[in-house]
Amino acid sequence: MSPQPWFKPPWPEKTGRRALLTGITGQDGSYLAEFLMSKGYEVWGIVRRSSSINTWRIDHLYEPPWVEDKRLSLVYGDLNDASSLNRVLKVVRPNEIYNLGAQSHVKVSFEIPEYTAEVAGVGVVRLLEAMRELGLDARFYQASSSELFGKVEESPQTEATPFYPRSPYAAAKAYAFYITRNYREAYDMFAVNGILFNHESPRRGETFVTRKITMAAARIKAGQQDCLFLGNLDAKRDWGFAGDFVEAMWLMMQADKPEDFVIATGETHSVREFCELAFARINLPLTWRGEGLDEEGVDSDGRTLVRVDPRYFRPTEVDFLLGDSSKARKKLGWKPETTFSGLVEMMIDEDNEAL
Ligand code: NAP
Ligand code: GDD
Repeated sequence: MSPQPWFKPPWPEKTGRRALLTGITGQDGSYLAEFLMSKGYEVWGIVRRSSSINTWRIDHLYEPPWVEDKRLSLVYGDLNDASSLNRVLKVVRPNEIYNLGAQSHVKVSFEIPEYTAEVAGVGVVRLLEAMRELGLDARFYQASSSELFGKVEESPQTEATPFYPRSPYAAAKAYAFYITRNYREAYDMFAVNGILFNHESPRRGETFVTRKITMAAARIKAGQQDCLFLGNLDAKRDWGFAGDFVEAMWLMMQADKPEDFVIATGETHSVREFCELAFARINLPLTWRGEGLDEEGVDSDGRTLVRVDPRYFRPTEVDFLLGDSSKARKKLGWKPETTFSGLVEMMIDEDNEAL
């Protein structure tokens, strides 16, 4: 299924600005590409070669090569391959670069820590160096993460909260955060970190917990699956809607001076609560019984629909995240539009309809 556009064409006039996105085939890349095109940008996206086509999130934006005045173009490249990044920057010469590409799965980063460090960490300095060597006068956005706060030292977390990474992914993102800040200070580049808390959507990757829940709930309702196996039900996250969050990325890049910003909703909810809302929305309200590994979510007929499987636990967990985005609200005029229950409903409704 092609994703529904989040904004409404027809396209406005071009602004004359050109944006380059890494990670354009991912959740955020697809929403940001739509957003920038709706603002009249010419958008270029770096894609990795894959044996199977993985552009489903941006298929609805695709324009064939012979279209005059193309607004979206894709080029091959990889954050692990400096020569491809140099070549793309030389050809495209963007005004704004949004670095969204990463091995972004925290649990997977424990299995492939070195690769994660290469893409999510060293990949950033490859891009920044390519900009510097070319003398490219472009603004740079780095997709930093609330995972940096990890084992949180204070709540809510702000731009001033110390980092305590709890995974190879977060450690790689810490390097990325500091190298972005260093290039800003050392070379006077417009390079910013958006420290984004979790943001979800119907386009969320299927192995992240929110989408795993909404897809499984829809399948259980349709009789295509019996039970959903999850890890830590107590984990709490500050979950927002990706469509709201990409606007904050753009606003940071339009500011008078480069600064880092926390982007969050200011509410936190547990994985258990997310399950409750998702199942209730499709008329399968859950009650919980048992504790620890024996805890289960049961429907009104006594069927067990949710169980705990320790295989989904992480060697070191981030138990609790709650962001304070006052700085972004004040300086950028940004605020999220979608509520937590609105987000869960949007996701479960789309997964339910897609079956
Ligand atoms: P996502 O859906 O996992 O997308 C990741 C993107 O990175 C995909 O387009 C992927 O390409 C691309 N990619 C992976 N390895 C690459 C490589 N070696 N070279 C070039 N591109 C590569 O992630 P997302 O949720 O959109 O997140 C976007 C960014 O924000 C990531 O950097 C993530 O770490 C960060 N972030 C996300 C959140 C969140 O809650 N979503 C919060 C804070 C920060 P393929 O399609 O080919 O795999
Ligand atoms: N994925 C997953 N699968 N997570 C589970 C499961 C499960 O079956 N059961 C419980 N969880 C818990 C995880 O242990 C974690 O505490 C929480 O649900 C959220 O997990 P994910 O949805 O995988 O997201 P994340 O918070 O680890 O990472 C996401 O958000 C970060 C921002 O804070 C990713 O998008 C990262 O790229 C991003 O930086």
